[in-house]
Amino acid sequence: RPQARSTGERVLVLIKPDAVQRRLTGEILRRIEAKGYELVALRVLTPDAATLAAHYAEHVTKPFYPGVVDYMTSGPVVAAVVAGQRVVEGVRSLMGATDPTTAAPGTIRGDLGRDWGTSAIQNLVHGSDSAESAAREIAIWFPELT
Ligand code: TYD
Ligand code: MG
Repeated sequence: RPQARSTGERVLVLIKPDAVQRRLTGEILRRIEAKGYELVALRVLTPDAATLAAHYAEHVTKPFYPGVVDYMTSGPVVAAVVAGQRVVEGVRSLMGATDPTTAAPGTIRGDLGRDWGTSAIQNLVHGSDSAESAAREIAIWFPELT
């Protein structure tokens, strides 16, 4: 059973199916660890539609959402809980902007992202956008931690 070793702020990170398929899991975790953050929990799974609807509650009614479901259920993802000082902001910064075609060089999405011309934006990684989102999302992906 995963144990939280760290106090302080936490964030939910998802390494999305395109990143797992492209063997970028290690590279993405390397960047997170190199920044000094701590891995608290880690899991490989293929998400189901109900999990995604809970996770993306703010987006389920948007026109791009069906494409997001197709993308996110296309293969395994790596889910992680990462801890550290101001880690929510820090992981967002490491990830870069939502669209990899304009994400800054030096970021995960900017360095490693590709424009596949798909309906959903395939951007390799998810990170919670606030401490409140992190708590909500960690409860979805790692219920045993809460
Ligand atoms: P969002 O929360 O806006 O971005 P972020 O992942 O940077 O927090 O959107 C969630 C995901 O939905 C995003 O990672 C990719 C997908 N998406 C699209 O496919 N098309 C869009 O126009 C938007 C805004 C998001
Ligand atoms: Mg978001």
